[in-house]
Amino acid sequence: MSLRSRITGTGSYAPKKILDNFDLEKMVDTSDEWITERTGIKERRIADSSEAASDLSVEASKRALQSAGLKAKEIDMIIVATVSGDMPIPSTASFLQHKLGAKNAAAFDLNAACSGFIYGLAIADSFIKARGFKKILLVGVEVLSRFTDWEDRSTCILFGDAAGAVVIEPTEKDRGILSTHIYSDGSLWELICLPGGGSKCPSSKETVEKRQHYIKMKGNEIFKVAVRTLEKIVVDTLKANKIKPSELSLLIPHQANLRIIQATAQRLNLSMDRVVVNIDRYGNTSSASIPVALDEAVRTGRICDGDHILLEAFGGGLTWGSALIKW
Ligand code: UT7
Repeated sequence: MSLRSRITGTGSYAPKKILDNFDLEKMVDTSDEWITERTGIKERRIADSSEAASDLSVEASKRALQSAGLKAKEIDMIIVATVSGDMPIPSTASFLQHKLGAKNAAAFDLNAACSGFIYGLAIADSFIKARGFKKILLVGVEVLSRFTDWEDRSTCILFGDAAGAVVIEPTEKDRGILSTHIYSDGSLWELICLPGGGSKCPSSKETVEKRQHYIKMKGNEIFKVAVRTLEKIVVDTLKANKIKPSELSLLIPHQANLRIIQATAQRLNLSMDRVVVNIDRYGNTSSASIPVALDEAVRTGRICDGDHILLEAFGGGLTWGSALIKW
């Protein structure tokens, strides 16, 4: 049996503060009915002003380490997928390494927007198989509330804050990550971007006045590309592994919109009881959505040994990707 990498621990953390659709009704011209019907979201979590991405990551990571039965010093790599890290320099992974005391780990961030966790799985899988890494901590974390324009009803109803973490280790058994698939199309970058504060458009009074430090999104256009792309990628991923949709135990999709999730499930002929949905409670938490949903599925006993689990995501870049796991 060839070497595979396997998720051996999961953890997640969401800030305490809940912002529900009725709260948003008081902030912008929207309604609980519109948000529920168009997105499936009922409420989302908002980080406290004292909490940055690394703080959420620490909590999720501690839980993942505990469930893997590992100490922080045993970790040899930390990958943090995020678009809302503590600072541009250093990486949020560096803060996390320090706060956990994971002294023996290489640490870096990766940005593949909402597909970040899938990209991270692909990278971790490769480092384990090709470079002999033994214990990788992969975190998806976002504090999108800091980059949300609370005056823009087309985006502020969507996003939330959370962190999810997994520990990945090698195994000789017929288990673990069977395949990962990652893609991008940078020509569509303008569909979702945060234009201000980078080297193209450095922070200035003008960028702040133009509200360029907030996420801009052409939601309707992304929606169409996402449905088309995800319907294809889930079918292709199963085909690549010679697995029939009927053999799939669980689909864990990125939680961007309930209607996108339902369209993907329908393409595979999956009933919704085989799909993990928590968008109603968290909204879109970008890189964090899949590891949070995975952790909840593990902790509520929805995943059994030997189950085939399909993960998929789509987001800014544009980027998209999938992973098939035998648990
Ligand atoms: O995480 C990965 C990247 N992001 C995504 O995948 C997001 C994908 N897109 C979506 O989820 C959906 O496109 C949205 C939820 C963002 C929007 O839903 P939609 O059904 O595509 O609505 P729309 O943008 O076409 O807007 C329909 C109408 C518009 O009014 P008119 O022009 O028809 O009069 C909007 O102005 O709904 C209006 N609208 C709202 N109304 C009440 C937009 N936002 C709101 C709102 N409340 N919050």
